[in-house]
Amino acid sequence: MDHVLVRVLDLDRVRFPPGPADHGSPFVRYRGLLHSQHRARAAGVPDDEYVALAARLDEAVSRVAGRGFLSTPFGRSTVLSDRLGFSAAGGVWVKDETGNVAGSHKARHLMGVLLHLEVSERAGLTDPARRPDLAIASCGNAALAAAVLARAADRRLRVFVPRHADHHVLESLRELGADVVTCTHTDGTPGDPTYARLRAAIAAGAVPFTCQGPENGLVIEGGETMAYEIATSLREEGVGLDHLVVQVGGGALASACLQGLAEAADLGVLERVPCTHTVQTTGGHPLERAYRLVRALLPATPTGEEAEAALREAAQHRSAYMWPWETEPRSIATGILDDETYDWRATVAGMLATGGRPLVVSEQLLAQAHDLGHAAGHAVCPTGSAGLAGLLTLVADGTVGPDDRVAVLFTGVDR
Ligand SMILES: Cc1ncc(COP(=O)(O)O)c(C=O)c1O
Repeated sequence: MDHVLVRVLDLDRVRFPPGPADHGSPFVRYRGLLHSQHRARAAGVPDDEYVALAARLDEAVSRVAGRGFLSTPFGRSTVLSDRLGFSAAGGVWVKDETGNVAGSHKARHLMGVLLHLEVSERAGLTDPARRPDLAIASCGNAALAAAVLARAADRRLRVFVPRHADHHVLESLRELGADVVTCTHTDGTPGDPTYARLRAAIAAGAVPFTCQGPENGLVIEGGETMAYEIATSLREEGVGLDHLVVQVGGGALASACLQGLAEAADLGVLERVPCTHTVQTTGGHPLERAYRLVRALLPATPTGEEAEAALREAAQHRSAYMWPWETEPRSIATGILDDETYDWRATVAGMLATGGRPLVVSEQLLAQAHDLGHAAGHAVCPTGSAGLAGLLTLVADGTVGPDDRVAVLFTGVDR
């Protein structure tokens, strides 16, 4: 059974910040939408103290990573819009996270959790002298982001990595002071051995400092700041998006985007949530498999209630819908090779609600998208440009037309 905690905003009591994006930290700008700030207020910590705490943390991040959290660029790409044959009315909008803290969007997910931990100490809810370890299973962008933030906050981090992890990444993790633990399958258990070790560490008291929503719901909230920034820019430009194409590994990114955009729409910032499609590789596509199985429970045009009932059914029998991909996937998009889509449920729900669909792209399309991203002036990695590979499919099959407005997320820097 799928047990997930979801952060639900009381929309009558929160406000989306008015005006254009500013140059400060998104974690300060959108703090009214963050659970850590609500928790601080409930514990009697005044707002200006929360802002000071977030600023101090951000300065510490800046000292470790060379930059703190700032709103990242979002805008229409003339090169991509022209190359893909869009009209002047339509086009491709790019959210560029390549310059974000630790070179990807992952640090956003974790900053949401870190703020929560720091606020809990400030409010006297946890004891700073007895801090539990932080723990994550990753050997890529998420691990690097976790190590930067843990170092900035002076917290111990354990990183569970597979045997064949990239040695440059491992070196960086060790330089940042993380405790790196190499994991192998010893007992024939299916699935990712690093994830099994992570779960054991959490069971023993570590804080899940991961980018998987089912392990820690606050992870999704931090990632939502990206969607809030997109919503702020769209409001400022007076533009509505028709489609969003998101690459999916564990699914936290897509889940955060869907939730953040839905909240922005509910709060009147956006007219609607764009039709959201997901992208996985031919090497492994557990989300697409789960979507197909849920879809099979439904009529051709399901109502919201029918979709909800099917998802409830699927969540109660999780292993019949989501299980580890049987073969070890390979792709140039290494960041989306998770053998399970941990945040599958929110992501399938989002596709059903917005009319999007799961796309499975070839290595050739991934390479083409990567080249296009660079031609458009973005130092993006093949995982980061995988959403664009999905868009190439949607343009080719006519789902997206020349007048449509589509967004992709360039989520990671080419290292
Ligand atoms: C650059 C980049 N983009 C996208 C993703 C996919 O995010 P998620 O695992 O939350 O689906 C990853 C995950 O590692 C990544 O590194």
